[in-house]
Amino acid sequence: NTMIIEIDLENIAEEEMRKAAEILKKNGTVAFPTETVYGLGANALSQEAVEKIFQAKGRPSDNPLIVHIAKVEDIKSLVKQVPMEAEAVMRAFWPGPLTIVLEKTEILPESITAGLSTVAIRMPAHPIAAKLIEMAEVPVAAPSANISGRPSPTTGKHVLEDLKGRVDAIIIGGSCEVGVESTVLDMTGGVPTILRPGGITREMLLKVLDRVEVDTALKGEEGAVPKSPGMKYTHYAPKAQVYIVKGEEEGVSKKIKQLANEYKQQGKEVGIICFDETRRYYDKEVLKSMGSRNELKTVAANLFKVLRAFDETKVEVILAEAVEEVELGQAIMNRLTKAAGYRVIYV
Ligand code: TXA
Ligand code: MG
Repeated sequence: NTMIIEIDLENIAEEEMRKAAEILKKNGTVAFPTETVYGLGANALSQEAVEKIFQAKGRPSDNPLIVHIAKVEDIKSLVKQVPMEAEAVMRAFWPGPLTIVLEKTEILPESITAGLSTVAIRMPAHPIAAKLIEMAEVPVAAPSANISGRPSPTTGKHVLEDLKGRVDAIIIGGSCEVGVESTVLDMTGGVPTILRPGGITREMLLKVLDRVEVDTALKGEEGAVPKSPGMKYTHYAPKAQVYIVKGEEEGVSKKIKQLANEYKQQGKEVGIICFDETRRYYDKEVLKSMGSRNELKTVAANLFKVLRAFDETKVEVILAEAVEEVELGQAIMNRLTKAAGYRVIYV
């Protein structure tokens, strides 16, 4: 029995928010919007509460959760120390779509960090998320509010699809502006390293830090083991099989049309993910644009919506165009590549 709480962003109803905060205080589970994707929250200081998250999502227990805080000072009790570089990025990017990994203290239950000595922390910018965490008066553990393996939810409807009946409450509060999850940055020592590309890009981090590396496992180097446990799982997958086609525009559209014909001859329903600029190449197919290729913010905001929208069609094979892997393009292609199970065709 899930309580559905609708919140108007323009006029956040205090009493409604209080109901959700009370559930968190009593170690229940509440899904809520953040600027990246919807999260499924629970009291991060309670083992019992945290376990309900893993249950509801069907999440593997070796994949640690992000702890969300309402004020910068709230980090103090959760981590052993805050290095100067971490302070600098917190000042520059909090509240916002950046998660930092530091050595944890003992107050956090084992299951949050899946036995690691480190914890991932983020201070979200979304007014509903910020208010909820503040009112709950505890740090809030929150993975994305999807069933494990599915595309992350960026609208209230997505959350209802996945979690209605499995959690204590769902706050519905509009579409998520960023649309891909936060950047996870390891700051436990040595060169700060991006474990998951996201809303805060490497280029942005380099304005504040002298050096930023990218986890070798993300670059697809052979034998590399991801430091962020979550990156090893199949993820973001719609029901259809996704293939990414990469290369220069004309070659890509030609290849996609050729593949579409081949699959159709096999009796398969085909969908295409393209951009506003390339729509004109295709006809008849189930076609979804992620927006203009030159506006990466729009593409990021549309990505999971488009993947989920295909689940409402009969499409069995999706052929997807790619963006360049710079700036937000890194996060976009990271998610799309995982949705495709690493099936990439170069032309
Ligand atoms: O934008 C976001 O980060 C969203 C919203 C709800 O805040 N949350 C989110 O959580 O994406 P989740 O659980 O879906 O992804 C957390 C990622 C996983 O890849 C996990 O492995 C990694 O963060 N992570 C968590 N704790 C870690 C740690 N101590 N060391 C390395 N990676 C960690
Ligand atoms: Mg997730």
